[in-house]
Amino acid sequence: MPAASLDQLVSLCKRRGFVFPGSEIYGGLANTWDYGPLGVELKNRVKNHWWKTFVHRRADMVGLDSSILMNRKVWEASGHISSFADAEVECKHCHQRFRGDKLLEEKLGTEPAAVLKLDQIQPMLMTEKICCLNCGKLQWTDARKFNLMFKTHQGVVEEEAALVYMRPETAQGIFVNFRNILDTMRMRLPFGVAQIGKAFRNEITPGNFTFRTREFEQMEIEYFIEPGTSEKFFDEWNEAVWKWYTDLGIGKDRLRVREHDKDELSHYSSRTIDIEYKFPWGWGELFGLANRGDFDFSQHQKFSGQDLAYTDPDDPKKKFLPHVIEPSFGCDRSILTFMLEAYTEEKVKDETRVVMKLSPEIAPVDIAILPLSKKEHLVAKAQELYKKIIHETGLVCDFDVTGSIGKRYRRQDEIGTPRCITVDFGTLGEDIAQGERDTVTIRDRDTLGQERVHIHQLTTHVHRR
Ligand code: GAP
Repeated sequence: MPAASLDQLVSLCKRRGFVFPGSEIYGGLANTWDYGPLGVELKNRVKNHWWKTFVHRRADMVGLDSSILMNRKVWEASGHISSFADAEVECKHCHQRFRGDKLLEEKLGTEPAAVLKLDQIQPMLMTEKICCLNCGKLQWTDARKFNLMFKTHQGVVEEEAALVYMRPETAQGIFVNFRNILDTMRMRLPFGVAQIGKAFRNEITPGNFTFRTREFEQMEIEYFIEPGTSEKFFDEWNEAVWKWYTDLGIGKDRLRVREHDKDELSHYSSRTIDIEYKFPWGWGELFGLANRGDFDFSQHQKFSGQDLAYTDPDDPKKKFLPHVIEPSFGCDRSILTFMLEAYTEEKVKDETRVVMKLSPEIAPVDIAILPLSKKEHLVAKAQELYKKIIHETGLVCDFDVTGSIGKRYRRQDEIGTPRCITVDFGTLGEDIAQGERDTVTIRDRDTLGQERVHIHQLTTHVHRR
């Protein structure tokens, strides 16, 4: 069973070095989080696995790493300056601001209230008697559109500095580089471009740990196709994404697909589905798949004056703007989901064991090497093995000699290490009861099964597993 409450996970993340509150020694900065030593390993593994699956293992995909700051015209063309806004209401009493549609959604359970017109939100809040979550008063302003893009200035002379936006999605970097990629990479339709990177949104109500933050990472794909073929590729991507999440351990019973209503669609999309996960607070969006049609290319062609059409290499008369299918993953949200799903409390001999049953593909540490005691010659033998395994396998290994062996096993369980190797006096040939000379014990995180393996077979053994 996954974590029953978010607090259980937040506490483990802090205790074990996965995620810390941002700027903590200065009292923090609301809703910012820093990935600690184990968190960054987990994050890198998730990103690498994603890249391997969707870029390296496919002949029809290439990658990109574009800038966060882009020409302002990009956001005029993409529609973000005019349309990337949420409905904000303010409490007239305490001046706290909220997303009006979300307040309605949470109270009424209607999914989603974003389809409401702006001028319907305040009257509905009043009729339904939905009070301010901060002070409890029922005194709402009219809802107004609040643009979510972060602004900053580029240039050294303050008065002359140009207004620029921090990108709210990585997607636009792919669209503006389409021509460059086409000209340099000999790609033919259908093909896609993948990008992993930071995005920024001045969310009105961030929260639920890393679920909704103002700075986050996306893993996005823009898949370019011939007009008229969108249905087939939309279904293919839906399947591929579902497989990625379930292969990495997300239970199918806690995933569902939700189709957006027509009036809920983003300004660029003719069809969108979300893959939702059953979070401890309810169903929430994990991933989005959109049919962007030729919206972005026709806008960028218009605003830039550049020809962005694709010419069929087999038929130069066939020239058209490609259509786009967009699978868009939240990186931090995916990591949160993997951790919630992996968090397990189970009874072992009357004791409660907390174990993170992360897929071995993404667990931050592959193997822990644990000398049974602090005796110098035992530690030296364990260190020798540690170096050998790192050198010969390239796996990520932890070496831990502090505390009792039981405590060390518990720590490794909590950080999700799939296997622990214990070096004992049997290994040294000093205690046959512990095992034969030159053998070690391998303990499995999930079954708690232990097997004795000869050190000459160790690297092949851990690789095979
Ligand atoms: N290019 C399309 C796009 O950005 P989106 O549905 O707005 O679509 C895609 O975002 C994914 O990014 C979401 O499914 C979610 O996983 C993640 N995401 C969006 N806003 C987020 C936020 N404020 N904090 C964390 N993740 C977020």
